[in-house]
Parts: sequence; C-alpha cells; structure tokens
Amino acid sequence: AKKIAVFASGSGSNFQAIQEAILRGELNAQIELVVTDKPNAFVVERAQNFQIPTFAFQAKNYDSKDHYEREIINQLQEKGVEWIVLAGYMRLIGQTLLSAFPMRIVNIHPSLLPAFPGKDAIGQAIDHGVKITGVTVHFVDEGMDTGPILSQAAVEVVEGDQEATEKRIHELEHELYTNTLKKLFES
Ligand code: GAR
Repeated sequence: AKKIAVFASGSGSNFQAIQEAILRGELNAQIELVVTDKPNAFVVERAQNFQIPTFAFQAKNYDSKDHYEREIINQLQEKGVEWIVLAGYMRLIGQTLLSAFPMRIVNIHPSLLPAFPGKDAIGQAIDHGVKITGVTVHFVDEGMDTGPILSQAAVEVVEGDQEATEKRIHELEHELYTNTLKKLFES
C-alpha cells in the first residue's frame, strides 16, 4: 500500500471519503498522517475517529514557510510517507515541500480549472453565472491551484440554489478523488 499524508484545513470530508475507500479495500493506500494548519479544524476530530495521527501546526509560530515545511517534512519522513494528498489545505505549498516530494503532491479543487482558482471557487463560479462547473484533481506546483491536470468531472449548476450545487460538487469530489488516486497509485 502507498503511504500517504492528507493535508487539510477544514471539515475534512475528502479525507474521510479517502479513508473510507481505503477501508472498503478500493484504494491501496494507508493514511499515515493528517497534517493541518488549523488545530481546531473538524478534520482533527475525524482523524481521531479513525485513529490516524495528526500533526497540527500554526504558521504564526514559525518565522517562515520554509521553517514549518521543514518541520512537516521531518514528520512525513518519520512515517515513511510517499505521497501528499491535499484536501482543502488552504496554504500555498512552498519550494521546500515541492523539492522534497517532486510530482508526489496532488490537490483537489472545486471548479473546472483553470477557471476560478483560489478561495470559494464554488461561490466564484455561481457569481459568474456559469451553467456548468465541476471538480479538478491536479499535480501541485508553486502556483495557486495550477499544475498538470490529472482528472476533471462536470456538474450542472442548480439555478438559484447554491447549497444544492455545493452538495453535488462535494459528492463528486469524493468520488473523483478516490478514483484518481486509485489510478495514480496503480500506474
Ligand atoms: C473542498 O471543496 C476542496 O476542493 C476545497 O476545499 C474543500 C475542502 O472540503 N479546496 C480548495 O478550494 C483548494 N483551493 P473538505 O475539508 O470537506 O474536504
């Protein structure tokens, strides 16, 4: 099984979907560590429920990105982590982590990239009035939600109902991320 770390800053529903796929035997991986920059994020509780260790840090306690990323790398190496899976980790990955895991960091984003990168992609898409949006899984590079695309899936916007659109996107994310990781780890 591929040893992976999931990085998250929020609810962790993608983390949970990945872990459940692993437990169902659909994904040949093991989540060795959850890394979060938000010690109070709900993902920490989800990780505890699965007895997966968490490394929580606060960027403000470090003088630079390089400094906290070196700390993260120590934690990852201790656990033999091979792949980094970003799942709602709302920080740019720096050169330190990119060089330590070249082409071994993937991200999921709730839009059809390159449209609507950054925060609140679903809200951005709806405000723009698009009729079709979607989900993208891609390799991570130094940009914000850039890097080579691995997979995409489309969702029809539910007119006048942002909540319903969000629900569709999140359900699709869980499916697309699991399937994409499966192919990636088999290749
Ligand atoms: C997901 O929708 C993910 O695509 C998005 O954050 C959410 C995290 O949800 N990521 C980005 O916007 C990255 N720019 P989760 O914590 O429930 O998995």
